[in-house]
Order: sequence, then structure tokens, then C-alpha cells
Amino acid sequence: MIDAATAVREKAHAPYSNFRVGAALRAADGSIFPGCNVENRTFGLTVCAERSAVLAAVAAGQRTFDALVVITDCSPAALPCGLCLETLTEFAQDLPILVTNLAGERHETTLRKLFPTPFEWPETARPVSDRAESR
Ligand code: THU
Repeated sequence: MIDAATAVREKAHAPYSNFRVGAALRAADGSIFPGCNVENRTFGLTVCAERSAVLAAVAAGQRTFDALVVITDCSPAALPCGLCLETLTEFAQDLPILVTNLAGERHETTLRKLFPTPFEWPETARPVSDRAESR
């Protein structure tokens, strides 16, 4: 997975930040989905490496994941951003995450540790304004 993340990092499109990120997401069947960051001149349309990997995996029919590796060239190795963590919670209750860098530093954590309270949309949720008692 580290090799896959390292290789795909080279494909990152990061002309604005010069910060290349590679990710490798492993599906339950053992297949590995690489993803890199793809920046855009509008900045706001930038897609992170981790979400690129999730999108590729879901498009290939995978919905269950058991590991994520992220590689950057900074120390300490960068953790996934909040948007990516929230995206991962759609498909994983918890997930071992290894962040590493080109120098070989490694830090192991989990999705639950980094993002313990994802957005929940309970079956019963409805706008407060719809409740009889508020009329
Ligand atoms: N980036 C990622 O690919 N993953 C993250 O979790 C955070 C940031 C990218 C987005 C942008 O291209 C560059 O890193 C600088 O923010």
C-alpha cells in the first residue's frame, strides 16, 4: 500500500500548492485503490488524494474498506483533512490509517480517533419547524 501511495503521489496535479499527496485505500477483497490530489485553478474545486481514492473504489463497486495509507513530503507526515475523514465515515465505521512521508516516518492512527463524531442523520430527524409543538 505504501508503494501504491508513493507511486500515485507522483501523478498528483498540484501546481498551486506544490504539495503532492498520495493515498492508497484497501477494499475488503484486498484490491487497492490509489488516489492523488487534483488541484484546480479555482482552488475550491481541488480534490484531495484520499477522496480521489474513495471515488475510484466506489466507482469500481467497492464499499467496504480495511486500511488507508497516505503519503506526503512533510514532517510530521500529514493527516487526512476533515472533509476526507467525513467522506471515509460514509463507508467505514473505523479504519486503520497509516500516514507516512518520503523520509519513511510512520504514524498509525484510526478513523475513529481522528474523527470520532461524524454527522449522523437519524431516521427520525426532521426540521424542528415541522414539529407539531412548534406550530
Ligand atoms: N490535500 C490532500 O490531498 N489531502 C488532505 O487530506 C489534505 C490536503 C491536498 C489538497 C491540496 O491539493 C494540497 O493538499 C494542499 O492543501
